[in-house]
Amino acid sequence: MKSIDLVAGARPNFMKIAPLIKTLQSSDSRGKISFRLLHTGQHYDPELSGVFFEQLGIPEPAINLKVGSGSHAEQTGAIMHAYEKIISESPPDMCVVVGDVNSTLACAIAAKKQCVSLAHIEAGIRSGDRTMPEEINRIVTDSISDWFFTTSEDAGDNLLKEGVDPNKVFFVGNLMIDNLLINRARLRRPHFWGKYGLKPQRYLVLTLHRPATVDCLDSFKAIIGAVSSNSGGLPVVFPVHPRTAKTLMKIDKNFSNVIFVDPQPYLEFNYLVSNSIGVITDSGGISEEATVMNIPCMTMRDSTERPETISIGTNELLGTDATRIPEAMERLLNHQWKHGAIPEKWDGMAASRIISAFETILCS
Ligand code: UD1
Repeated sequence: MKSIDLVAGARPNFMKIAPLIKTLQSSDSRGKISFRLLHTGQHYDPELSGVFFEQLGIPEPAINLKVGSGSHAEQTGAIMHAYEKIISESPPDMCVVVGDVNSTLACAIAAKKQCVSLAHIEAGIRSGDRTMPEEINRIVTDSISDWFFTTSEDAGDNLLKEGVDPNKVFFVGNLMIDNLLINRARLRRPHFWGKYGLKPQRYLVLTLHRPATVDCLDSFKAIIGAVSSNSGGLPVVFPVHPRTAKTLMKIDKNFSNVIFVDPQPYLEFNYLVSNSIGVITDSGGISEEATVMNIPCMTMRDSTERPETISIGTNELLGTDATRIPEAMERLLNHQWKHGAIPEKWDGMAASRIISAFETILCS
């Protein structure tokens, strides 16, 4: 029996490991591959962590490093230190990291330095913007990984340009979309739906959490103001990430149609998106989910590491300031937004492709 460590640390990791665990538990790989789930504790608030475990049926982690928040170096260093100890006491046959958060990078380095085989899921995506901490995490993780699992042909091409052996790259599709398709029929209204009189197709969803969008008071305020005043009077539901909450405390929240709510659980958040007229966000993952649900998506960034959400999907980049919001909102409200299609292999089968590749890598 071969053993793998599955690493998860922050909110966007949880929806990616959930389908992998389901497949590992149900498939023929039972008896061939055992897994140890490791939570780094990067996200620890119940709204960012515990509720995702409950809703997505993720088992209790075998290990929780409980590192909590800190500067990038503090957080990354604390995870490396703690995981190194775990590996030296009981090394797995392979360490599996997903995405591009600090936990991904830290565990990748700790594993590789102890000569543990390293698999990176969602490898090869590149925004080209090295001011984003996630871009550094992606580049460094890919530079030391042994096995690469990609969500698009583009991502594979990026890896080949960086000199990766094509035999180590598996184009498998998108775990986040596996999770969405598994849970689509279970999506449910948030508790405040009735209180605010929300109606399908008659509200917008706004999420902002990246340092580049929320740490500058003026531009942050300008984005919310532009969405609010160009929404044609529709309500704007804004689930607020803890980092964003800190900035919100410093500004005058005088936006009459903006409904500020806590970070939403998975099922409620995707219910909100799937019933909205459109989403305004600085998240990459949400642009993928919006694409699959055919919901218009405006991304408040200058670049994306997920170009297929634009070339194929419903996403459009609006930049980091508010200037392009009025024109984009006008097109949205006049139903002139482009119709998207679903990118290749975003079909709910990524987890089974990944687990069969693991079996080939580890067991043959
Ligand atoms: C992290 C990821 C980002 C991802 C986002 C999703 C990195 C570099 N960034 O950003 O890619 O899109 O998660 O949410 O890994 N905090 C809490 N409760 C928590 C966790 C954090 O209140 O459970 C607060 C802390 O004040 C912390 C701040 O949020 O300082 C930021 O948390 P952190 O994990 O450093 O990064 P995120 O902004 O969440």
